[in-house]
Amino acid sequence: MPKVTIFPDERVLARTLAAQIVEAVAQKPDIVLGLPTGRTPIRLYHELGAMHAKGQADFSRVTTFNLDEFLGVPPEHPGSYRAFMQEHLFSRVNIPDSQIHLLNGVAPDPLAECIRYERAIAAAGGLDLQLLGIGTNGHIGFNEPARELTGSTHRVLLKPSTRHSNAALFGGNEENVPREALSMGMATILRARRILLIATGKSKAACIERAAHGPITTRMPASFLQLHRDMELVLDEAAASKLSRS
Ligand code: F6R
Repeated sequence: MPKVTIFPDERVLARTLAAQIVEAVAQKPDIVLGLPTGRTPIRLYHELGAMHAKGQADFSRVTTFNLDEFLGVPPEHPGSYRAFMQEHLFSRVNIPDSQIHLLNGVAPDPLAECIRYERAIAAAGGLDLQLLGIGTNGHIGFNEPARELTGSTHRVLLKPSTRHSNAALFGGNEENVPREALSMGMATILRARRILLIATGKSKAACIERAAHGPITTRMPASFLQLHRDMELVLDEAAASKLSRS
């Protein structure tokens, strides 16, 4: 059974989780964090920024690795996940640029870029704490439901539903969302020493129940998190509303 923590709403969740992350950084100042983009972590990132602004958190020795990036999108493009992270987290805290890692969506050789990324994670000592969001179809990172999943960092074809949910980054038009991305793989994620999967809102309730208690299947990539020994679901009431609390 995964550990589940349920908060009354998104605000309380973000505040409490930010305090926990700051505590984890205080315990291990050179912590290696795996980070998601998307709607879900925005409040959390802003809370971390607010705590830093109040002098309550020092991120100067933290190293980060983002989960994924769109293929063909340069870091300076406003739709890139690099730009997203800059806006919502990196501009608000004091992580040195040299300790921030994202996949390069315009690397000349995407396969070599994936290998470079895996090596960089290993060289940093592996991920201490991986934060995750979840797609309504059960994807984590950009590991989409499929007949087979990939272990290491790789190139992926995005599902129409995933392109749809990222349309806001590309002028509201899903046709402008790239068809491909680079993503950490399932094994990259599962090797993290600790995993926190965050989900908020009613639209996530069904996939959270399937991820937590359904069969472990490549059709629901998040279900593989059941195999991890230190994984916690961090939910608001709405996302937890379909959990069979057995
Ligand atoms: C993005 C990522 C994705 C998102 C997921 C949920 O880096 O890893 O798996 O976490 O698509 O997105 P939101 O939070 O927008 O619902």
